[in-house]
Amino acid sequence: MNGRQTAAQPGSDGSAYHLKTPSYNARLTEVGRGTPMGELLRRYWHPVGMAADATATPRIVKVLDEELILFRDGAGRAGLVYPRCCHRGTTLYYGKVEDRGIRCCYHGWLFDVEGRCLEQPCEPDGGRQRDRVRQPWYPVQEGYGLVFAYMGPPERRPVLPRYECLEVLEAGEFVEADDSSIGSGGIQVAPCNWLQHFENVVDPYHVPILHGSFSGAQFVEQMAAMPKVKFEYGPYGVKATSLRAQPDGRTFRRVTEAVLPTLRVVANPRVGRYGMVESIGWTLPIDDTHYRIYVAGRVRETGELAKMKSRYNGKTWAELTPGEHQKFPGDVEAQTGQGAITFHSEEHLVSSDQGVSMLRILFQKQLDAIAAGRDPVGVAFREEEAYVKLDAGQYLE
Ligand code: FES
Ligand SMILES: [Fe+2]
Repeated sequence: MNGRQTAAQPGSDGSAYHLKTPSYNARLTEVGRGTPMGELLRRYWHPVGMAADATATPRIVKVLDEELILFRDGAGRAGLVYPRCCHRGTTLYYGKVEDRGIRCCYHGWLFDVEGRCLEQPCEPDGGRQRDRVRQPWYPVQEGYGLVFAYMGPPERRPVLPRYECLEVLEAGEFVEADDSSIGSGGIQVAPCNWLQHFENVVDPYHVPILHGSFSGAQFVEQMAAMPKVKFEYGPYGVKATSLRAQPDGRTFRRVTEAVLPTLRVVANPRVGRYGMVESIGWTLPIDDTHYRIYVAGRVRETGELAKMKSRYNGKTWAELTPGEHQKFPGDVEAQTGQGAITFHSEEHLVSSDQGVSMLRILFQKQLDAIAAGRDPVGVAFREEEAYVKLDAGQYLE
């Protein structure tokens, strides 16, 4: 009888009937205000648009589950403000941008890029007490063709980092930004949690399978071999070094890094160019179930970043029919295929998932640090400490 009971232990026969209600780790995935990860992410700068997205036409942007209005005043200053006007709440999406700021359509209150109320035209003398109100705003700073915002506690605002790989340019190179896809072609906004993409950065073992053999060679042949991988913690995140023996006896060494909070630092897998990594991709959580990527990279021709597209059966991702997406899946299919927020309760992490485990542990430690009143890794409060040198790149040795 005991034997029968043992055999009938839920799950021992693998029947799907025994599946428990699945769940995900909210602490690691949810990005809204007041959530643990949301608060951690708010300690860093995030790109909220391309420089060209900040114009005289107010634009709605959604970042970390907050809807905001991005604009650029007549003096060229970018501004990011809470959409609901602090007077009586209509949206500044219908506002008019002027030299000094954005004017609400309803009663004409004028706010500068830091939310100061400059005019209340329906009030005597243009509003004698207008200094008493302030439109909620976030600081922005521009760099690498992107507009970055800091949405955290003002007193913990770090310096916007500069990255060696985007600062040290060879002759003929310049830095451009791109937001056209999540990478390898593909969609601009992916309908799944940002962490699914970010974990992919430290999952080098999927490269020879998903990108090397399963759907044909999506990158270059060189990437199709199964690598030997070493995972390490660095000062900013998790680093994976993949070694592949070459037919000529040399070693192809590829270093990729997941830099906290969301930076994908991966050398271009398609072009036979060696040396320091040439681009950084910021994984921007739009909300809990959508993300997009902003890339900045060193290029020689305008539009080069948008042109770097993988081929799936000879086509770009956008050219595939639904049937071909099923037959030739890539990163978009694999990551959105995990669901809107993957069920961590149903995972079985194994040794080749070491990078993913290390990244989760590193995040947990930063969540603990925040809870204990400390700053997370990688934030710097002095200009000279905000210059970031990374090891990412690819080398033939
Ligand atoms: S609601 Fe914006 S000025 Fe009145
Ligand atoms: Fe991938």
